[in-house]
Amino acid sequence: MTTAKPDDAFRAASSYEDYMGRWSRQLAPRFLDWLGAPAGADWLEVGCGTGALSAAILEKAAPRSLLAIDPSAAFVAHAGGTLGSAKARFEVGDGQAPPAADASLDVVASALVLNFIPDPAAALRAWRRVLRPGGLIGFYVWDYPGGGMGFIAAFWEAAAALDPAAAAIEQGTRFAFCTPDGLKALCRAAGLPEPRVEALEIAMRFPDFEAFWRPFTLGAGPAGGYLAQQTAEHRAAIRDRLAGRLGKGPIDLPARAWAARLPLP
Ligand SMILES: C[S@@+](CC[C@H](N)C(=O)[O-])C[C@H]1O[C@@H](n2cnc3c(N)ncnc32)[C@H](O)[C@@H]1O
Repeated sequence: MTTAKPDDAFRAASSYEDYMGRWSRQLAPRFLDWLGAPAGADWLEVGCGTGALSAAILEKAAPRSLLAIDPSAAFVAHAGGTLGSAKARFEVGDGQAPPAADASLDVVASALVLNFIPDPAAALRAWRRVLRPGGLIGFYVWDYPGGGMGFIAAFWEAAAALDPAAAAIEQGTRFAFCTPDGLKALCRAAGLPEPRVEALEIAMRFPDFEAFWRPFTLGAGPAGGYLAQQTAEHRAAIRDRLAGRLGKGPIDLPARAWAARLPLP
């Protein structure tokens, strides 16, 4: 019925915006208020995507400079094209090897990215390397394992019920470390101080079932990437199962992220 190989499908900027960017845009300013980074700082943003957190950093954090990187050339072009600023540079890059000199920056921030990086501990070590003494690491990830990202959890519950291969790649299993304890353990494994981890939540409401379902059909993100590999018949079966469970709407779902704050000595 499917391959068990995940396709995270971070390719088309407008599809990603409709699928996830619009929600991350709501979370980003809340995260920055919580993070409390100093004004006038030199920032690295890892995995900027279409620019949800980059926009908030430029609007709210009064940075001296912002280097925003992402491996997706299409996302970098979108973010750079919509967020022109003399203070900001948008570049294709890997969060495990950020293109910045040792001890050259004040803040490394990242939104909904750490779980997508192949070696997150290596990434954290690299972020520490580019920070000056007293620097700050801050990031957030969705609460996939706890079902706190209800939109995605509902999709994978339906997919896994109909296709055993989907159970192996559903995001709660794949990103099992996205819990407070898991994030703290990851930081310890990377040789970093233990972070403060707290929940940040936004309201996630879809006016009707079609508004809930359509983002999955855009081929963006792991769920969209999975759906795009399926036959029309299997896609319809997932849709029908979800419609039966969620009803006509409005549909209100939890959207909880775990935010981590690590000040360095
Ligand atoms: C869920 S999106 C988050 C995008 C954006 N930060 C936001 O909040 O909307 C995950 C992003 O991680 C990026 N990504 C995947 N692997 C990465 C890596 N090794 N280094 C940096 N970013 C990566 C993807 O290209 C994608 O843009």
